Amino acid sequence: MMRTVFFKKALAVAASAVLASAFLTVKADEGMWLPSLISQRIGDMQAKGFRLSAEDIYSINQASLKDAVVLFGGGCTGELISSEGLLLTNHHCGYAQIQKHSSVEHDYLKDGFWAMDRSEELPNPGLEVWFLDRMEDVTGAVLDGYEPGMTEQQRDSVVRTNSEAIAGKAEKDGTGLRADVESLYYGNQYFLFVYRVFKDVRLVGAPPSSIGKFGGDTDNWMWPRHTGDFSIFRIYADKDNNPAEYSEDNVPYIPKKYFKISLGGVSEGDFTFIYGFPGRTQEYIVSEAVRYISEISDPHKIALRTLRLDIQDRYMSASQAVRIQYSSKNAAVSNSWKKWQGEMRGIRKMNTVETKKENERLFEEWAAGSEYSGIVGRLDSLYRLMEPYAFAADYYNETARAIELTSFAAEYARRLEKAAGVSSPDEATQARESAKRLAAAFYKDYYMPIDKESFIALMDMFDRNIPSGFKPEYFTESMGRYGSAEAWADSLFGNSVFSDSSALTKTVAAACADGVGTDITLLTDDPAVEFGNEFRKWYMEGIRSVVQRLGSEITLLYRDYMKGQMEFNKDRALYPDANLTLRVAYGSVQGYSPADGTYYLPMSTIEGIMQKDNPDIFDYNIPQRLRDIYAEKDYGEWTVTDASGRLTVPVCFIATNHTSGGNSGSPVINADGDLIGINFDRVWEGTMSDIVFDPDLCRNISLDIRYVLFIIDKVAGAGHLIDEMTFTD
Ligand code: ARG
Ligand code: GLU
Repeated sequence: MMRTVFFKKALAVAASAVLASAFLTVKADEGMWLPSLISQRIGDMQAKGFRLSAEDIYSINQASLKDAVVLFGGGCTGELISSEGLLLTNHHCGYAQIQKHSSVEHDYLKDGFWAMDRSEELPNPGLEVWFLDRMEDVTGAVLDGYEPGMTEQQRDSVVRTNSEAIAGKAEKDGTGLRADVESLYYGNQYFLFVYRVFKDVRLVGAPPSSIGKFGGDTDNWMWPRHTGDFSIFRIYADKDNNPAEYSEDNVPYIPKKYFKISLGGVSEGDFTFIYGFPGRTQEYIVSEAVRYISEISDPHKIALRTLRLDIQDRYMSASQAVRIQYSSKNAAVSNSWKKWQGEMRGIRKMNTVETKKENERLFEEWAAGSEYSGIVGRLDSLYRLMEPYAFAADYYNETARAIELTSFAAEYARRLEKAAGVSSPDEATQARESAKRLAAAFYKDYYMPIDKESFIALMDMFDRNIPSGFKPEYFTESMGRYGSAEAWADSLFGNSVFSDSSALTKTVAAACADGVGTDITLLTDDPAVEFGNEFRKWYMEGIRSVVQRLGSEITLLYRDYMKGQMEFNKDRALYPDANLTLRVAYGSVQGYSPADGTYYLPMSTIEGIMQKDNPDIFDYNIPQRLRDIYAEKDYGEWTVTDASGRLTVPVCFIATNHTSGGNSGSPVINADGDLIGINFDRVWEGTMSDIVFDPDLCRNISLDIRYVLFIIDKVAGAGHLIDEMTFTD
């Protein structure tokens, strides 16, 4: 009924290639802007349809939208949606928590979880949400004491000392505060960010993975999309509404601000805005750096992960228990694997290396004779010096560090070593307890056949692709001694005490019999620990040190290069690269053309879920309940009417907002500041937007809030949660 307009318009666009390309030439919506400086963008936002003011977005004097947005779990975004601390984020952001509460008997990943009252909400020790209290330009204070002519080391130390003092002072202002000074534009500017950190965050609800991860890794990063990627948490505070550690006595947090929900949905062309914490972008790097990423690093990392994923997939499809154990790990490995493929392709398609080269030539022409002259050439040579080391570092991360047993064993031994090294029995107990917890978490989700096969495949690749001069001696010796990666694996996995959790427990218990000391030679001689330590030593001493040394020289040059870019591009507002600080991205709902002759509409519906539904394919096997609801058209009030007059349920939509990893779970906000969706992904063809933004192809993917409400209401039967929310229409 309400959204008819949307479909007519979208279909009209699809029908005409000419019209479609007219739509696609809409002005670029690139950029992730600092909320406290949003007054510089508000004119443009309003011109594009936004109806609120800069103060509504960010204010230090009154409650504003920023008070309803949190950094969730250190890597995602979440938003408050009730006066009682109810919080929305993605299913994939709450995934680790949902998994931790799951076992074969209570499989919340598979079946979903819904707390039917507050007493059933599940605590998650270690999970934190951060509210941004305020942010402020502290460049002057950070550089106080810096004098031209100082060495870079001296400058660094000035920056560090001042930053610590500024942050330390800010933290003393209230309860639960945490402050950081962050560098923007490669150290041309510094901002203080003060957060209020809440530590009692409970799981309230999650749909089954067949909804929350519908389409799985097959559909991940893809459009058209039908993933119900949401989960619900609640923030708890002490009785004075202040942050507190988990306690049964804590009460739901009353936020300064929470989002009202609009059921109005979107039409193509509508203004949308994303408020969240993008993690990392590199929009200003030189062509040489882009070449390394798209032609060397991405292809190699992809190949290494393909090997691991094939092995995991084989064992996961053979056993439900292994599927639960590896679900979270597998999703993490697969996610970047697929993103890199889109990124690499997007960079090539946009000809970014060549385009950047041309810009660099123009820049150097402009810079001739100035302080900026020659920077690009210097960056190029540093990058070329660094390349073999960066490559080795990539291999370390994707091979040695990807082997689970050896990474765990080395870390476990480090903790026990610590226990042996301290003099106070209390500290020793603490260190031993932390090793014990590490072991418990590790063995819960460990399946050795996967790890052993991965070891063989990865060591073979390491052997083949790392030049002999760069290999650790330990590696060459071991391969020589055993003759093959298989034989090496047989020996290592066969002889390590870590291969058997009960043997490990017995060994450690015997070593700790006197209650204080621990004879850790037992562990340091273990082949798994040895592998972890030897590779780590090689990496730390021979690789990382060089990468860091050259890396800081590079960053330094970027400080000047960035400053030069700002002068060179005077008429263009340059946004700072993402660094996991709060940003505003705005744009509009738009379809796109992924290939010649094809146009994607910007919105999906439950019809697409039914088209994909297939009981024989794990990723597309929806709950029977959803099939029944569909058959009965029992949609409640969460509906739209499509172009053919059919009553249906909206599921996802795409828009031109510039987002990145970390924007998962971000509120998608309409022109009136009301919540219309939850951001959870980007389209595959546009994943190069961390490096270069193509307005024709870069789209963020959001979940329509009406689908979220439909699932809560109709599938979960958790309408009491909806009663807590506030609706605008
Ligand atoms: N691509 C999204 C992001 O980068 C979703 C990842 C989780 N989903 C998955 N199927 N692995 O985080
Ligand atoms: N899924 C991503 C995340 O976890 C967001 C998608 C993206 O990278 O844009 O933050």
